[in-house]
Amino acid sequence: MIEFSTTKKGLDSLRADLAACFVFQGDKEPPAIANRELRRSLARLMEEERFEGRRGEYVLWYTDGAYPSRRYAVIGLGKKTKFDSVSLRDAVANAVHRAEAVSAKTLALAFPRGAEAGLPPKERTQALVEGVLLGNYKFDKYLTEPHKKARPLSQATFVADVSPAAAREGIRLGRITAEAVCLARDLVCEPAGVLTPAEMARIAMGRARKKGIGCRVLEKDDMEKLGMRALLGVAAGSAQPPKLIHLTYKPRGRARRRVALVGKGLTFDSGGLNLKPTGSIETMKCDMAGSAAVLGTMLALPDLKVPVEVHGFLAMTENMPGGRAQKPGDVIRTMKGKTVEINNTDAEGRLVLADALVYAQQQEPDVIIDLATLTGACVVALGPLASGVMGNDRRLSSAILKAAGVAGERMWPLPLYDEYADMLSSDVADMKNTGERWGGALTAGLFLQEFVEEKTSWAHIDIAGPAFIERDVAVVRKGGSGAGVPTLLRYLSTL
Ligand code: BES
Ligand code: MN
Ligand code: ZN
Repeated sequence: MIEFSTTKKGLDSLRADLAACFVFQGDKEPPAIANRELRRSLARLMEEERFEGRRGEYVLWYTDGAYPSRRYAVIGLGKKTKFDSVSLRDAVANAVHRAEAVSAKTLALAFPRGAEAGLPPKERTQALVEGVLLGNYKFDKYLTEPHKKARPLSQATFVADVSPAAAREGIRLGRITAEAVCLARDLVCEPAGVLTPAEMARIAMGRARKKGIGCRVLEKDDMEKLGMRALLGVAAGSAQPPKLIHLTYKPRGRARRRVALVGKGLTFDSGGLNLKPTGSIETMKCDMAGSAAVLGTMLALPDLKVPVEVHGFLAMTENMPGGRAQKPGDVIRTMKGKTVEINNTDAEGRLVLADALVYAQQQEPDVIIDLATLTGACVVALGPLASGVMGNDRRLSSAILKAAGVAGERMWPLPLYDEYADMLSSDVADMKNTGERWGGALTAGLFLQEFVEEKTSWAHIDIAGPAFIERDVAVVRKGGSGAGVPTLLRYLSTL
């Protein structure tokens, strides 16, 4: 476990294996270093090595015992005008990677003025702690060569002017959030051969019990009785039975509101009979990232003492092309009663979510939020780092976008234009499951909207891009990211 502390002392008076200071692009000197000699040495090094302070750029200096810390690093933050809560976590994670590279156990960090990222002290401390813990994350359970395993960082000290109370609370919140994110990451990284729907149910059960959260698992028989033929249709081609996991968190005292979170839980999406080609299929163990985010979030609620009642629904199944698989052209009847022509078995997420959304609404939530790795089109629109936010309630969408801004996640609104609804009309059923070539993220959202009561405030977060990262970015390494968890926790905490 990493120990955290904040201090008002200068970076030059701290003893650490690595002392990292951050500078904006164009800054000539590192911050928080009163010792003139040390400051000058670092400034000279920056100049010599043509360090510009670009995001993630760094210079490293070995002191040979002349100063309290063994090594000093100057790390770039990029342009001051572009600095935000994402950059802050990224910067910290960059320092953690430098620490890892030199096997440092203790790390001290100092930021320049202007690196507050618009966050008040508590939230800022929380962001720093998250940057360390998330930057330090590595899915290494299957690596047998010791030198490839994560290195043990044991202590991080932030040079910052925060009150002890804000520091303590920020550290606590940062730990809780990072733990939730790392659980989601572990689950997303776990191969589909291990993490089946049944295994996810087992994990959810065990963890929920420890946290005092209710957990009920609907089996295939239950789904049949409820008429969840959209979910069952997707599961039909798989040898693994589907599970619908229902988690319940109730706060002490009267709940102010009731929220339902629904996660897409495809432990593997082969595409079904519309089989995915090489190049698209390899990473499809990540297609349960929505459910992982919901589970991580739910388990953190007791620690955060969130004052609202929250129900989590994880719709778990595989999408496989087995002998009993549903076929293009099939027509299924959803739990809501609407019929759907399956024109593409690879558009399975919306089918699974359709029944899960209807089931979730039996709890009469005031707010319902679904998270899903739903469309490649959303990745085309926003790139691999951002989630698309859609829904039927502008105020809810804005609240989620605002929470993302503080939580350090990239989310961006996408519209649900009524004019596109007819892209889903079918000749043989009430609708088909796939629209046309353009606007794929939107038609997927419009499909889901058909299963949400108008009176219920609903948001859909398409996390297909950021859920599984294929190129290292500082705060997330290649693999599962835990996308959605920080935002959901922030949103639920501020209700
Ligand atoms: N799970 C995929 C979406 C996805 C793509 C997630 C890339 C993560 C990364 C989803 O089930 C899917 O296959 N969507 C299709 C929909 C299409 C058939 C309408 C897609 O996006 O191509
Ligand atoms: Mn698919
Ligand atoms: Zn999918």
